[in-house]
Amino acid sequence: MRILSIETSCDETGISILETTGALGAISPRAEIKVLADIVLSQSSLHAGFGGVFPTVARREHAKNIMPVLLRALDDAGLLHIIKEPRVLVQKEKDTIARIFHKEAVLMEEFYKSLLDVSIPEIDAIAVTAGPGLEPALWVGINTAQALGELWNIPIIPVNHMEGHIMASLLVPKPEKDGKKVFSLSVPHFPSLALLISGGHTELVLMPRRGEYEILGQTRDDAVGEAFDKVARMLGLGYPGGPEISKIAEKAPRAKQVPYPLPRPMIKSPDHDFSFAGLKTSVLYTIKKIPELTSEIKASLAKEFEDSVTEVLISKTRDAGKKYKVHEIILGGGVTANKKIRLAFRALVDKEFPEVKLFIPEQYLSTDNGLMIGLAGLLRSNKVKKNFVAEGTLRLSSKAREPFRKPLRKNK
Ligand code: KG4
Ligand code: ZN
Repeated sequence: MRILSIETSCDETGISILETTGALGAISPRAEIKVLADIVLSQSSLHAGFGGVFPTVARREHAKNIMPVLLRALDDAGLLHIIKEPRVLVQKEKDTIARIFHKEAVLMEEFYKSLLDVSIPEIDAIAVTAGPGLEPALWVGINTAQALGELWNIPIIPVNHMEGHIMASLLVPKPEKDGKKVFSLSVPHFPSLALLISGGHTELVLMPRRGEYEILGQTRDDAVGEAFDKVARMLGLGYPGGPEISKIAEKAPRAKQVPYPLPRPMIKSPDHDFSFAGLKTSVLYTIKKIPELTSEIKASLAKEFEDSVTEVLISKTRDAGKKYKVHEIILGGGVTANKKIRLAFRALVDKEFPEVKLFIPEQYLSTDNGLMIGLAGLLRSNKVKKNFVAEGTLRLSSKAREPFRKPLRKNK
């Protein structure tokens, strides 16, 4: 079967087309997955001017980019066939599409302009990010998916973005075929522990079985990626901040003593939660005390910040991994692109979890992309839905473990 997937939860417009054996609702977890197309168009240079992502700007850009990205994906997949006589829709189809795009007149115009002279491609399902993310941005993907579903008469699978990040980590590369990338999904050994670190999330998640999640802990304030972005802004660096911080951190002068030490927030707390807002504020206070912020000092601060974050992530993952005797550790989310964090987790597993398999996404799949949404769509291919809405705060699971709940005081 072939699945087209759409990701618009933040500032990347991603569309991919995957091909795998099996029918909708019955994909073998060991099937080969051929990537027919995988296009990601980032808006980050636009948002760089604001130092962060504005939801309405993101929405406008997705609406502008989604049709060209779709046409390129179809073309890459060899599924773009122009027909001489443009398709004529019946009134019912037109009404449905008008209802879907009732707040997006320009996108509807683009939709018709781009697709009426394209023959119906051989695609069996469309997966689309339903949440979590920025709701105005999510809606562009959802509306486009639903309108395509109507135009091509194919079912839609709503996908959780964070499940996409997990799935991207589980890909095992295979030899290319016909110039296209081929993967399989790793054979799972549960329980697994997933550490999800992105611009909007920092979560430790226990996976007792594939597709089942229990939240062990999460950030109480800022997400790791958000902290990277905010600290980068304080240091006068560009957006997204993660790659900028690590770039300058590498140039930090070697020092016997850390010149500006930062805290390791919640590193010793007995729960599995995180907190990064205080760390960010510590950077701010440190900067305020420094009369001249030279590039050397900036580099030292960036390195110390990265070290603090890395140590906290490692320590929290180690604790949860030991406690739940996990067989796998899966890292997911944009912050997994960070070289230091990747190396630190490899070292942790080599040293302290020799029996545990570590999964880290290939670097180009760390940050948001359509391919990961296609993979989650394959996993959920029996969960097609007709009407659904953007859910900015969609959770992976409503199950949360609270293993360290304070014991109730007994009444005398
Ligand atoms: O998963 P993602 O692409 O989008 C969300 O779902 O939020 O993650 C984006 C986040 C940004 O905060 C960005 O600064 C961070 O990932 N990031 C990094 C690196 N590359 C991206 N953080 C640290 N080091 C990096 N190399
Ligand atoms: Zn993401």
